[in-house]
Amino acid sequence: FAQDKKWKIGFSQVTTIEPWRAQFNKDIIAEAAKHPEVELIITDGEDKTEKQVADVENLIRQEVDALLVSPKESAGLTGVVQQAIDAKIPVFVLDRNVDTKDYTQFVGGDNKLIGRAAGEYAVELLGGKGKAAGNVVEIWGGMGTQPAHDRHDGFHEFTDKEPGIKYLLDQQSGDWKQDQAYNLMANALKTNEKIDLVYGHNDPMAYGAYLAAKDVGREKDIKFIGIDGLPNEGVQMVNKGELTATFTYVTPGAEGLRQAIKFLNGEKVEKTITLPTQKITKENAAQVLKDNGL
Ligand code: FRU
Repeated sequence: FAQDKKWKIGFSQVTTIEPWRAQFNKDIIAEAAKHPEVELIITDGEDKTEKQVADVENLIRQEVDALLVSPKESAGLTGVVQQAIDAKIPVFVLDRNVDTKDYTQFVGGDNKLIGRAAGEYAVELLGGKGKAAGNVVEIWGGMGTQPAHDRHDGFHEFTDKEPGIKYLLDQQSGDWKQDQAYNLMANALKTNEKIDLVYGHNDPMAYGAYLAAKDVGREKDIKFIGIDGLPNEGVQMVNKGELTATFTYVTPGAEGLRQAIKFLNGEKVEKTITLPTQKITKENAAQVLKDNGL
């Protein structure tokens, strides 16, 4: 029979079609299952700002005890997040930020740090510090999101110090999507005889670029770096030699919900919780798969 639910927690997810988002929802649902006192309501923004804004408004109307939100983009979601804050609902912002700091807590990975790790590795792959040379294609995530900017900035802290590195695309966004990255890369391949490395702001886009290269028989000449490192996605791709490296970006699903419950139970929570990352290459991919039972 039904347990007495003490807390109604709303989670506004931006989309459910991307692999990382599907994992995110799995993680939060698994965590919720451990807390019979929690009723979790998940909404799907269908990757549209307007839909996600309506979702959050709806959750506010349902008088949720806490709101978790992983925004499509910062600017478009800020107003409605502020509305929730004004309605005295504790707000937990997950993975992508909004343009206010009045929320209760932010939980997510350190995208600047991940970008730096990717940049440092790119320099190594292209010949090492002071000697690195090659043509780089960078495929941006959503331009309106902080993770994309941080992943860009961190990467360039390393690669911009190398005069031998040239950039072929200027601020081209694949909006985190494999098919859009495929198209960008297909064009880049047409106009550039030599491409040495692709940096995709997530694994689906790095993989889309890989597929475009493969379709014209050039994938062996190019190194592909992505981010997310899901065992059943990016890590497999690295293990198969499709991607050269990926950097794990743990979903904030489980931790975000735990933090919200902690807060509702009257405990103090930190303003920011930063989730760890790990570099995955051919050297450790098989082990990581094993550790995950794959
Ligand atoms: C999924 C996703 C991930 C990425 C994150 C950044 O929607 O694009 O692949 O790491 O969002 O916010």
